[in-house]
Amino acid sequence: MSTQLKLSQPLRPLTIRNLQRFKQDGRKIVALTAYDYTFARLVDQAGVDLVLVGDSLGNVIQGQETTLPVTLDDIIYHSRAVSRGLRRAHLVGDMPFMTYQISVEQAMTNAARLMREGAVHSIKLEGGRERAEVVRRLVDAGIPVMGHLGLTPQSIHQLGGHRVQGRDQEDHKRIVEDARILQEAGAWSVVLECVPASLALEVSGALHIPTIGIGAGEGCDGQILVLQDLLGLNGEFNPRFVRRFAQLGDLVTDAIKDYGEAVRAGTFPSAEETYDPIAV
Ligand code: KIV
Repeated sequence: MSTQLKLSQPLRPLTIRNLQRFKQDGRKIVALTAYDYTFARLVDQAGVDLVLVGDSLGNVIQGQETTLPVTLDDIIYHSRAVSRGLRRAHLVGDMPFMTYQISVEQAMTNAARLMREGAVHSIKLEGGRERAEVVRRLVDAGIPVMGHLGLTPQSIHQLGGHRVQGRDQEDHKRIVEDARILQEAGAWSVVLECVPASLALEVSGALHIPTIGIGAGEGCDGQILVLQDLLGLNGEFNPRFVRRFAQLGDLVTDAIKDYGEAVRAGTFPSAEETYDPIAV
């Protein structure tokens, strides 16, 4: 596959069937978050299969402590921008805190807005058995749903912090059962966040739908990271599961310092960077 997709190339997004086929073929799904047009283009050009406009934008874009303040309008705004930069990747939009928990009707109305106004191909929501009815109704209405189990950041206060889930036997059993329930309800895939690798491997083996891991070991059918973490743009955040594939934070700071020095020294803009007067 070409890694040089151009905006002039036709829109041919991967479908949920294509991505489910990856699992059958033993091909890993490469997933990443993105929140704007510029990065969406780069991520798509680099051959990422699935892009999530996650409510992690609360942390990395808005500078919030948790994802709880993120609104549906925030996700719609960023999804629309991201959708314009994608040619091939499947676009998933996150349903924010309390936009699907109140009633099935509320979930249906909000998911419809995200699909229609945010131009996403699928929606993602957090939770297991307690979401089965909502998942069923959304899927019946033609809305593809990605589940999210393990560490579910919208329940951060209930969980008592960012900690690995499914470590004890009861929790382990509940997560395996929840994954099966989501699959039965019609979810096309499930994110597993911050669970032991052995648990993620067991869930991935038990389901025919793909699992996408973050902090869940290499046994998942795909992996996802927050883009800013992968690029090293998020200095202070350094959990065990994040690998920084670049240190862009340092490069950005250096480039901006160089710009500042050039402005102060009067070497920017140069004659070549300046327009001539219009010839009369
Ligand atoms: O919001 C998000 O970015 C997510 C991923 C970390 C899976 O839910």
